[in-house]
Amino acid sequence: MDVLDSDDGSDAGLDVVVNDVGPRDGLQNDATAVTPQDRIRLIESLLTAGLKSIEVASFVSPKAVPKMAGANQVFAALDQQAAEFSALVPNMKGYELAKAAGAQSIAVVLSATETMNQKNINMSLDKTISVCKDIVELSKREGIKPRAYISVAIECPYEGLVEETTTAELTAMMFTAGAEEVIIADTIGAGNPAQVKSLFSRLVAEFGAPNLSAHFHDTRAFALANAWQALECGIRKFDASIGGLGGCPFAPGAAGNLATEDLVLMLNQAGFNTGIDIDKLLDSVELIKQLVQHPVGGRSLAYLRGAAA
Ligand code: COA
Ligand code: ZN
Repeated sequence: MDVLDSDDGSDAGLDVVVNDVGPRDGLQNDATAVTPQDRIRLIESLLTAGLKSIEVASFVSPKAVPKMAGANQVFAALDQQAAEFSALVPNMKGYELAKAAGAQSIAVVLSATETMNQKNINMSLDKTISVCKDIVELSKREGIKPRAYISVAIECPYEGLVEETTTAELTAMMFTAGAEEVIIADTIGAGNPAQVKSLFSRLVAEFGAPNLSAHFHDTRAFALANAWQALECGIRKFDASIGGLGGCPFAPGAAGNLATEDLVLMLNQAGFNTGIDIDKLLDSVELIKQLVQHPVGGRSLAYLRGAAA
């Protein structure tokens, strides 16, 4: 099969959307608290590099995730026309806060297992399904783009391997509720390319590629290989995090996200169109390094620095 052909038989094309989740997934778990003003600087530098889709904040309990405090300040500073800025919301209160802050795109989080939902948002799987459906339906009615994460979609740190059928059923529930995009997340970076191929072929056959997105972590160094497999299945939207930062505070063992610079380098060199300037992206890597005060960077960083010099 050619990488350009989607599993549903259509020509998947060369345009790929990279959604940077660094300001949210990247910074929620870092030891350093980054102020809303500095998170805004980071978002602006990502815009300068050409990112058109950024997950900028989460509206969550500041007790649960103190690093995301000030999400409303982040939204207030952004020109909503500049890109698609999304907010993660764990419950109806989070949705209402995101709406009040002016968010035009939100993402609910539905973990595939009972325990992960309990650990992450203190709700049972059934309750989370019902809360996510309610938020997606309301958001759709209110003209805010509803997106849904299926978290721990391949493996859960508490319950082990997740059946493909489970992930497919939860995905179906979110689309039925009205989600415009479902993001399949390997939250702990445990999935391998064979699993990704099998899962994404199935999901693309069932739901079509255009409304699916993939979110990988690089815990076992498989993130790029997994992204390529998803690409081969027809997926054209990927989450990635600048500098490879990231991880869920409630999912032990999760290392950083797939680094935006690694993904963009691979896509640009393989002939895909991301609209992202890799040299300018290096400025964002430098900035986030200054903000978190420790080394960051994807696997390609040393090469990229050499190439830019
Ligand atoms: N934003 C801000 N505050 C919130 C909130 C939200 N979305 N939801 C609840 N709260 C506040 C409540 O008002 C309450 O405040 P109080 O103690 O001052 O009265 C407090 O948080 C507890 O509320 P409760 O409804 O009992 O929530 P909980 O303690 O069961 O926690 C969540 C549930 C969902 C709020 C919490 O687990 C959470 O924020 N999780 C986010 C996890 C996350 O971001 N994971 C990484 C991304 S996947
Ligand atoms: Zn993640």
